Order: sequence, then structure tokens, then C-alpha cells
Amino acid sequence: MIIAIDGPAASGKGTLARRLARHFGLAHLDTGGLYRAVALRVLAGGGNPADAAVAAAAAGAVAAGDLADPRLRLEPVAQAASVVAAIPAVRQALLAFQRGFARKPPGGEPGAVLDGRDIGTVICPAATAKLFITATPEARAERRARELREAGEPAIYEAVLQDMKDRDARDSQRRAAPLVPADDAFVLDTTTLDADAAFAAALAFIERKLAAQPPASPG
Ligand code: CDP
Repeated sequence: MIIAIDGPAASGKGTLARRLARHFGLAHLDTGGLYRAVALRVLAGGGNPADAAVAAAAAGAVAAGDLADPRLRLEPVAQAASVVAAIPAVRQALLAFQRGFARKPPGGEPGAVLDGRDIGTVICPAATAKLFITATPEARAERRARELREAGEPAIYEAVLQDMKDRDARDSQRRAAPLVPADDAFVLDTTTLDADAAFAAALAFIERKLAAQPPASPG
């Protein structure tokens, strides 16, 4: 069982992915963390995130242990992540890790929830259920500003909103795996939904999908 969750920044997909993973007993991979880890490696080495050779080398060096670094959540890292994410060689270098995680979760779980930008379109096109989580840029900027303040970082709403719009534009307009809902994704707008309501709507969709699945072929 694979659940693919895509959507723009601060749409609520991370929270939803974690809750769905817990509910179904599945592993969870926040694939944005991989792009953030590439960006952090490039920035820490004094490199330019737009330099394809440097970014691709960093992508080749990323390991699961990188995902625990608290610096991944910093805003400059998020911006650099969307720059390295537009480089096809970076996406290619991270592909096998993501597909491997989905096919054979490291903890032996019977499946996985992956959240990102291209899970339903590129990484797991045959996923059991695909969700595309969205919300207005203003609602998302409010949430991100609150998260940053709670983490002790100063956050000015207008600046967060502008950064988010810049990143949305880069993610949606790039040629390699742009941010777009898969044709068969359930689009969920969380602008006026809290985490519980978003979870309930997502769960109802997934349960409908599971009920509609053809039974396993007779042995
Ligand atoms: O947490 P937030 O939604 O702000 O961002 P993230 O999911 O951590 O992703 C950071 C950046 O990585 C995004 O802006 C995308 O450019 C890139 N990304 C991607 O291209 N493909 C993915 N599957 C996940 C993230």
C-alpha cells in the first residue's frame, strides 16, 4: 500500500502524511527533506545551489542520516532546496532512494506514505491513493510564519508570503517534475480546514479507493 501526497509549501501535507502513516501502520518519508539535505550540503560547502554539477554531487552524497539535521527547516535552506530541485540530475540521484523506500520500507512496514511535489506523478505513479493538498498562499504563509515563530525564528508575515510565492513559482514552472496534481489525485483544499478535518476527508477518500480495489487474484 502506497499513499502519495503532493502539494505546495505549508499546505498541511506533512501533518496529514504523518497521521495517515500512523493510522495505517505505514512508514513515512518526507521527500522535501531530501532536497533540503542536498541544499544544506551545497550551502555548507560554500557552493551555489544553481550549479548543476555541485548540486548533483551533493545529491549523490545524501544519506538517511542527513534527514535529522535541524538546520533543514531554516528558510534559506528551503529556498535553496527549490533551486536544486529544478536540476534533473539532482532529481535523478534521489529517485532510487525514494522508490526503494516505497517498495521496501526500512522498518518492514507493509507500505509507505510519501509526501512531496512529484510523488503521484513521477515517483509512485501506481500508488494506491494519491492526494494533492493545497490552500491559498495567504493561509499557507500564516501557518509557516506561526511554525517559524514557534521554532524561535523571527518571521514577518509579508516576507514569508513572498518567499512562499517565489518557491511556488519555481516549483510549478520548472521543466523537471513540476508541481502539478496527478490526473487521478484527490484535490483537497485545506484553507478552511483544521488538521482533524483534513485527516477525515483524506481518510474517507483512501477508504473509498481501498474498497474499490479489485480483490487479489485467486491462487
Ligand atoms: O515543507 P515545505 O512544504 O515548505 O517544503 P518541502 O516539502 O520540505 O520541500 C522543499 C523543496 O523541495 C520544495 O520547494 C521543492 O522545490 C522541493 N521538492 C521537490 O522538488 N520534490 C519533492 N518531492 C519534494 C520537495
